[in-house]
Formats: sequence, C-alpha cells, structure tokens
Amino acid sequence: MQKDKLRFALFGLGDFGPEFVRYLNEVAEVVAVCDPSVKARVRFGETTGLDLPAFEHYAELLDRVDVDAVAITSPNFTHKAIAVAAAQRGKHVYCEKAMALNVPECWEMVRACDATGVRLMVGHKRRLRPPWARMIALREQLGPVLAINVARYWNIRLRNYSSREWWQREELTGGLLTVSGVHTIDWMRAMCGDVARVSALAGPQTDPQFSYPDTLHVALQFHSGALASLTVSLHYPLLHFRESGGPQVVCREGGMRFLPYKDHLDLYWQRMDEAEAHHERFDDLGFDHAYRLEVGDFVRWINEGRQPCLTWREGLRCVEVMEAAHRSAQQNGAWLNLPLYPELEPVQS
Ligand SMILES: NC(=O)c1ccc[n+]([C@@H]2O[C@H](COP(=O)([O-])OP(=O)(O)OC[C@H]3O[C@@H](n4cnc5c(N)ncnc54)[C@H](O)[C@@H]3O)[C@@H](O)[C@H]2O)c1
Repeated sequence: MQKDKLRFALFGLGDFGPEFVRYLNEVAEVVAVCDPSVKARVRFGETTGLDLPAFEHYAELLDRVDVDAVAITSPNFTHKAIAVAAAQRGKHVYCEKAMALNVPECWEMVRACDATGVRLMVGHKRRLRPPWARMIALREQLGPVLAINVARYWNIRLRNYSSREWWQREELTGGLLTVSGVHTIDWMRAMCGDVARVSALAGPQTDPQFSYPDTLHVALQFHSGALASLTVSLHYPLLHFRESGGPQVVCREGGMRFLPYKDHLDLYWQRMDEAEAHHERFDDLGFDHAYRLEVGDFVRWINEGRQPCLTWREGLRCVEVMEAAHRSAQQNGAWLNLPLYPELEPVQS
C-alpha cells in the first residue's frame, strides 16, 4: 500500500550524513539515526536541528524502531553488514557509493534484498549532475564514444581526511579508487556501457598516512570497443579535488572537453564538420539536482514501482572495476577480464 511519507533510518552521521538527511527529509521522514561515535551523534543534532532517537549500534536501531527503509552513509566497510541486516528485516536499502569493499560483498547485499523483496539502490550522483549528464546526452549529436581521458590529480591534504582514519586504510575503504575515481568510473560506464577488461599500474607511495599507493594509472576497454584512461594521484599540489578530473572525450562524429572549477564548469564540444566549438557554462554544480533525483527516485520506486535512475547494478559494476584495477596493479598491470567473479553471476536462462 502506498504511504504518504516513508519512514527512514539513517546510518553514519559523519561528514556526509548530516548533509544527506536534508534531501531525504524533502521526500520522506528520517525518524531515527545511528552512529557509534557520541561526538558524531551530538554534532548531527546541533548542525541539523533534528532531535531524533539516536543509536550506537545498527542492529539495536533496526530492532527497536519501525522504519520502511534505511539510508547508509557510514564508512564503506560497514555497508554490507548494515544493508544485509536491514534487508533481513524487510527494510528497503539506499546505500552510498562505494557499494561495498568488494564484489562478493555486493552480491551478498543484492541476494539479501532479493530474498525479502526489498529495493536496493546505490547512490552515484556524478552521472546525474546536469553538467555531467549533458555529456551523456551529447552522444546523440556526436556519436558513440571512442575514447575518454581523465586525469584525477589533486591535493588530498586540502581535504579533511586525516581525522577520519578509515579513509586512509585499504581494508576499510576498498582501495585508492574508492577515495578518488569512483565517480569517474561510474560516469565512464554511463558514457560507454559495460567494461570488458581492466589493467592498472600503481606508482610509488608518497604519503605514509595512506596504507595504499596514492598514484594509480588505470586503462579500461569497454564491450563497445571504447577505451578509457583514468590517472589518479592524491599528491598533486596544483589542484583542489573539485578542479581535477575534467574529461576529454573522443566521439565518432566529434569531441568534448570539460573543465571543472571550484564554482563553475565549462563544457566545450564540437562536431568534426564544425569550425568552432560550442561552449556551455554551468554556474550550478548540480549537486542538489542529483541528490534529489536519487532519493526521489528511490522513494517513487518503493511507492509506485517506477523504474529509478539507478539501482544496485551501477554500484556493483563500479566496485567490480575498482577491485579489478587494484588487483591488476598488484599483478604488475595484468589485464583482467570482467566479470571478475563469474561464479557469482546469476545464471542466464
Ligand atoms: N555520493 C557522494 O557524493 C558521497 C559524498 C560523501 C560521502 N559519500 C559516502 O558516504 C560514506 C561516508 O562518508 P563520510 O565522508 O561521511 O565519512 P565520515 O568518516 O566523515 O563519516 C562516517 C561516519 O560513520 C560512522 N560509522 C562508523 N561505523 C558505523 C556503523 N557501523 N554504523 C553507523 N555509523 C557508523 C562514523 O563514526 C562516522 O561518524 C562513504 O561511503 C562515502 O563514500 C558519498
């Protein structure tokens, strides 16, 4: 039966949770929250003005509060446990990227949700932000993508990661690409379709605070035949993270060039038969639009069965590409074919 407002529980009240709750409360009602950190629970109340029952452990919340759905904005290493526990109790699951630490964990989440018939969506906002969505749409005029190049070099010391230790540990994040690259990979999949194979090389580790190499060069080949290159480094003083990672895109009938800045985005595109490039400037970075679309679609998917902009598939395939790249880097750049775990794929009838 359709309800006016779905009741949500929110897990993870660190940097992102207090921001995300705003979007949830526009279309649903967050009725309880959970974070093992007292400091985070207190700060959540202070910054959002919301006075909600707050729990230390996710199972306690799930057992004591009647909710329809959960939103997971806790660290990557906690996603699977919370999602599976929620699904087993019949709660729909919205989970932030990265979906989980590895592909087997992702399949566990999918199967737990399948077993009780609840929805599972993974948040991947990049492809939904209008400037990035515009490039996806421009393929209509420029033809299919042949190649993409993204340099994601930036200075992580400008961001406050040092007080959030889990971000620095491979076994808690899933590796470098979950920190920098996850959004690009999902957008590349939106541009080119499924990835066929992956190769990556890691550079030297320059910063001892990370437990993983902080420079990685990744090559992707898509089933469409398109090629992509994603180069990542956290050790580049010239750019803030928001200014890095502007793609160059080669299409059959033309090309695109995208330049991100802290407060606006410039898109240039041109057909082969045109003398000059078109220029589109986006003064709105498009975050609000993307989050509203995600959570709005999640609620409509539950209430009305309407096909959403994202499901769990994007999340799982993105984790698969990242896991393959990290594994390839440990194998000196070996090309790894996807699916990475064929034995876990559903049997095709
Ligand atoms: N879609 C996006 O653009 C976007 C943006 C930011 C963060 N994220 C994702 O959101 C998640 C959180 O990122 P963040 O930057 O807020 O991290 P953070 O470290 O700032 O906050 C994480 C919070 O989760 C809490 N936590 C730890 N274990 C928990 C558990 N078992 N149950 C509930 N809470 C728990 C921590 O105490 C902390 O307060 C990550 O998965 C990240 O990738 C997505």
